[in-house]
Amino acid sequence: MINVLTAEELDRMREVGRMMADLLNACCDYVRPGVTTGEIDTFFNSYIRTLGDGTAKSGTLGYCGYPASLCISVNEEVIHGIPGARVLQRGDIVSLDVCGSYHGFFGDNTRTVVVGGPETLTADVRRLLRVTRQSLEAAVLAIRPGVHLSDISHLVEKTVAEGGCSVVREFTGHGVGRHLHEDPPVPNYGKPGRGPILHEGMTLAIEPMVNLGKAAVRTLPDGWTVVSRDGLPTAHFEYTVAVLRDGAEILTPWFEKDPWSDSWMSE
Ligand code: MF3
Ligand code: CO
Repeated sequence: MINVLTAEELDRMREVGRMMADLLNACCDYVRPGVTTGEIDTFFNSYIRTLGDGTAKSGTLGYCGYPASLCISVNEEVIHGIPGARVLQRGDIVSLDVCGSYHGFFGDNTRTVVVGGPETLTADVRRLLRVTRQSLEAAVLAIRPGVHLSDISHLVEKTVAEGGCSVVREFTGHGVGRHLHEDPPVPNYGKPGRGPILHEGMTLAIEPMVNLGKAAVRTLPDGWTVVSRDGLPTAHFEYTVAVLRDGAEILTPWFEKDPWSDSWMSE
């Protein structure tokens, strides 16, 4: 069943969404050469306590036994990388996936950032980042009541394919609200005109996971970290959005600090 939220519930989603975007941006600002991924997790834990009335909680810590407060996935790591001793290097691309709850509602958002700045990247990795972000923005612009969910999925897949990259098929976006993961699954591929129809008041996590090389992924022996099989870099961007009468509202507005006009987007 896909939940439809009331106006008051949507206000709570706005509140937690803005909080999670602030937390994500603060963690991204902490990324620099020489920092370990474990230090970013520690920073997350100190920063989250300063938000709102101090009761916001990580959505990943303890989730199915996941051991950290956020997911940090580097280079060929797609999702669910576990923070630890790894030292970030200039030229790494790092996906920070930050989700959490506040006053009973969840927000979920992800950015892939470049350690040491975009000028350290190869043209191929710049294209990967641009295409992944564009696929998310295209999806958001296409969301409105009455469209099929798979129209959005198809648009993501098409945008990624046109950019010469591959969508990861084993993991999807999802409904999000009083729980981190709700119906419906939101695949990043599919034929248009199928599946559920979007209605005003639905809240969704849209999250293209995109490989520079082939689509295949595997999970490392730690049981969590998902990597591209061919070892090529991979990117991930995510917003929590609400379906409103005139289109989608981005509830996790991290773009306010990572403008569309970033140098790797404007090529
Ligand atoms: N934020 C992730 C998502 O989009 C949460 C992953 S669950 C975890 O669904 F256990 F791996 F953290
Ligand atoms: Co998610």
